[in-house]
Amino acid sequence: MSKAAIVFWSATGNTEAMADAVKAGAQEAGAEVSVFSASDFSADMVADFDAFAFGCPAMGDEVLEEDEFQPMFDAVLPHLSGKKIALFGSYGWGDGQWMRDWEDVCSAAGVTLACDSVIANEAPDDEAVAACKALGTALA
Ligand SMILES: Cc1cc2nc3c(=O)[nH]c(=O)nc-3n(C[C@H](O)[C@H](O)[C@H](O)COP(=O)(O)O)c2cc1C
Repeated sequence: MSKAAIVFWSATGNTEAMADAVKAGAQEAGAEVSVFSASDFSADMVADFDAFAFGCPAMGDEVLEEDEFQPMFDAVLPHLSGKKIALFGSYGWGDGQWMRDWEDVCSAAGVTLACDSVIANEAPDDEAVAACKALGTALA
């Protein structure tokens, strides 16, 4: 059985709702799923899991949340090679630039994403929830 970790940051619940759908999809596909807030996850926990879904909304000016999520991800990223990785998050007025930049950071670190990233404009609609479930399935 695949052990999957969902690690996310969310201020107003939109990315958290996406994380819930990722969890449902991964569990339906048979994975053992653990869910963490960004502040509760650290690099020494990476070895415990086969697959990771990282979720963070667009914050600042098209960047990841800088106080909790970015430092956690910076610390974890060097340990992700050989793991199944997927990204998701919510955004507001932008066009998804933060996610394209995040994907580029992963690529530059030699991390290959297991599936297309999922972005949702504010609260995830039915289509975004389905895409998050499919992301969870891809990780299982
Ligand atoms: C301080 C702050 C900065 C933000 N910066 C961006 C941004 O650069 N681009 C964008 O598309 N949305 C931006 N947003 C909108 C959030 O990404 C959007 O509301 C998202 O749904 C929040 O997700 P959450 O509910 O998981 O916290 C920003 C929101 C806040 C509060």
